[in-house]
Amino acid sequence: MSERLEDIARAMVAPGKGILAADESSGTIKKRFDKINLTSTEDARRDYREMLFRSTDAMKNYVSGVILYDETIRQKAKDGTPLVEVMKAAGSIPGIKVDTGAKPLAGPTSKIETVTEGLDGLRERLADYYKLGARFAKWRAVITIADGCPTWNCVKANAHALARYAALCQEAGIVPIVEPEVLMDGEHSRHDIDECARVTEWTLRAVFRELYDARVNLEGMVLKPNMVIAGQKCAKQASAQEVAERTIKVLKATVPSSVPGIAFLSGGQSDEAATEHLSLMNAVGNLPWALTFSYGRALQAAALQAWGGKPENVAAGQRAFTHRAKMNSMAALGKWSAKLEKAA
Ligand code: 13P
Repeated sequence: MSERLEDIARAMVAPGKGILAADESSGTIKKRFDKINLTSTEDARRDYREMLFRSTDAMKNYVSGVILYDETIRQKAKDGTPLVEVMKAAGSIPGIKVDTGAKPLAGPTSKIETVTEGLDGLRERLADYYKLGARFAKWRAVITIADGCPTWNCVKANAHALARYAALCQEAGIVPIVEPEVLMDGEHSRHDIDECARVTEWTLRAVFRELYDARVNLEGMVLKPNMVIAGQKCAKQASAQEVAERTIKVLKATVPSSVPGIAFLSGGQSDEAATEHLSLMNAVGNLPWALTFSYGRALQAAALQAWGGKPENVAAGQRAFTHRAKMNSMAALGKWSAKLEKAA
């Protein structure tokens, strides 16, 4: 495979392919395992992720790359093969989460707002991850809509960190996934779709300004934004068509066409809603960038349930994962329909 940043970025968003976000931190994966009453041990995490990465059909045909957590990029499958080799054998590119988490942003809004950390020592960590096989990375900034939030201080600090991260990645030969997430869930999620549109546009403008200042090569990155959607606690939810149209409108206003691809996060949408929204956007057609998925929950929830932590359910877990991956692949081509879900 080519080592050029531009070629890797294009491969990540190749037609009908998207990214599996399997980079849950140990704290987050524990919360997911709690739901199936499974203790989160190192072996359990390996078994679960190995099940996903050995879903050959999904990994070969629908998943261009996988975002890994530090533990996983160093972990071996049960038979001793490094997990990175397992996914590479299936034709999928290994990626790595490199931020060290969203921490309270000091100041008057510290109970609500966060700034993502992880820049210290990042140059050295990226060199290490490159040796371990990573060809792309992820950094997630979190923007919360609440009374008086986001503040410009929060938007600016997160945008600046994203740009410094992206420049360091490119220096290391690694494609940065730039992820500024305007949250749709959590305790403050009462905002409507108009507010989400306003804050998403503001955030993306700030991010691309910082990327420009840091001289980040836009052809060698992938943007991972939220969709424009009402908060989970908002009584007035927009239709799927409106989410698709409003999202495209904001992206057209803010994302330069030199960016090869946009891979959305699912952010708390139901599996099917995340798929439907992506498909409706792609059905519009004639867009300057590829639009695809980089889903965590919306790709994994069904597989996790079907598996339930039991070795005898591995095939069922793989079937569930492959089905969601296929549905999202169809959506990335603008060809998904509810009928296809039922055909499964
Ligand atoms: P969700 O699709 O579950 O939002 O996760 C994607 C992700 O990688 C968040 O950083």
